[in-house]
Amino acid sequence: MQELEMVLRGGTVVTASDEYRADVGIAGGRIVAIADSLRGASEVDAGGLLVLPGGVDSHVHVEQPGSDGSMTADDFETGTRSAACGGTTTIIPFAVQEKGKGLRASVDAYRRRGEGRAWIDFAIHLIVSDPSEAVVGQELPALIRDGYTSFKVYMTYDDLKLDDRQLLDVLALARREGAMTMVHAENADCIAWITQRLAAKGRTAPRFHATSRPMPVEREATHRAIALGELVDTPMLIVHVSGREAVEEIRRAQARGLRVYGETCPQYLYLTEEDLGAPGFLGACCICSPPPRDRANQEVIWDALVSGVFQVFSSDHAPYRYDDARGKKLAGTDAPFWRIPNGVPGIETRMPLLFDGVSRGRITLQQFVALTATNPARIYGLSGRKGSVAIGADADIALWDPSRERTIRNADLHHAVDYTPYEGMVVKGWPVHVISRGAFVMRGGAPVDRRGHGRFLPCDLPGPARPRGQPALPADLL
Ligand code: URP
Ligand code: ZN
Ligand code: ZN
Repeated sequence: MQELEMVLRGGTVVTASDEYRADVGIAGGRIVAIADSLRGASEVDAGGLLVLPGGVDSHVHVEQPGSDGSMTADDFETGTRSAACGGTTTIIPFAVQEKGKGLRASVDAYRRRGEGRAWIDFAIHLIVSDPSEAVVGQELPALIRDGYTSFKVYMTYDDLKLDDRQLLDVLALARREGAMTMVHAENADCIAWITQRLAAKGRTAPRFHATSRPMPVEREATHRAIALGELVDTPMLIVHVSGREAVEEIRRAQARGLRVYGETCPQYLYLTEEDLGAPGFLGACCICSPPPRDRANQEVIWDALVSGVFQVFSSDHAPYRYDDARGKKLAGTDAPFWRIPNGVPGIETRMPLLFDGVSRGRITLQQFVALTATNPARIYGLSGRKGSVAIGADADIALWDPSRERTIRNADLHHAVDYTPYEGMVVKGWPVHVISRGAFVMRGGAPVDRRGHGRFLPCDLPGPARPRGQPALPADLL
């Protein structure tokens, strides 16, 4: 019997399918025993706590510069510290391709920034903004072989968007190589057309960001992305889904047997477009794309979490400071909405905000674990290592107090942002201790400095990215 370095004693282990009382034994940074009455060199009293897999936040932006001069406030250090304090032990941020350039240099530099500074483990998605022949033909296949097995494509934002032909190039490549494609689905031309009309009428305040991107803009792009994927028989995950019409598109595709996955985020459960109308320029804090909708759409998003339309609950942490010339005030306090960096922070509050849905009986503990940890690990090729309390997996664990009530205050969070959109909200359930590969990263509610402990995770080819084998085109054209 292997000597146990640490035992988590007397907690309730929760997986995506079960919950049961057991001790968890850790050695060499991995879970090596789950049983009754284990003994170890150190023991942690988990009585009354849930033993959850550490969260996998598979959609975060840290240390990401924008082509407009914006810069996320969180770097790998503060972003992973904040993640850890909210129960997350793996993040997947993005290395961005600048148009006209390749990807390899950007990916290597980005990975080096994370190594030596991240507190918890991280993988990297690619953002493909210029799928040239060389990128699609050589660079991406080589990067996929090196463990960068997922990429995001945008249907909006001038500096990132791909046209349909380019989307097909990327989707066909994903099919050939077995990678997962994430799609930001909004119709760029519709947004530009509406924005021009709003500008002509002087409607430029933050709240008009929501007017510029009504639900049909997201619905049309979601429908189109799914159709393109069907054409070339490529699975895809639609990210940050905001409301009913996009949910319906995804549900319909899933009912037809297409491998279409869905992701949503806390902002679509807890914010509405009214938050963009906060006094003065403050509405800028809640500008993100797609925009938060209304209460009826929040209900639809909850229901879609319960019914399984969504597999992933990510933060889409896009941490721009409010009072910062590289953040929300990039173009000043009178800036028109289209010059305000998009995104809201939420890496630390992601799991507590969803857990509050467990406390209120809206979702089950198993759904919570699946959405925050097990499914994202599977969808991005990290199964076996991350996302589950299981023998052989990394000892990434959140010991969670389901009865702890807490008022969210930015002053208590550990990110580098000067606000949280959830200020003053009361949630029930918060992590007490968080462990990454057997080491405390948060203990008794306080961060334990683990700068540099986090390692880069090369991802496997994800099983869910496998095509169905039923393209709508002759296979020799793909
Ligand atoms: O508004 C958002 N979602 N900003 C972050 C970037 C992205 O599109 O995910
Ligand atoms: Zn996006
Ligand atoms: Zn994002």
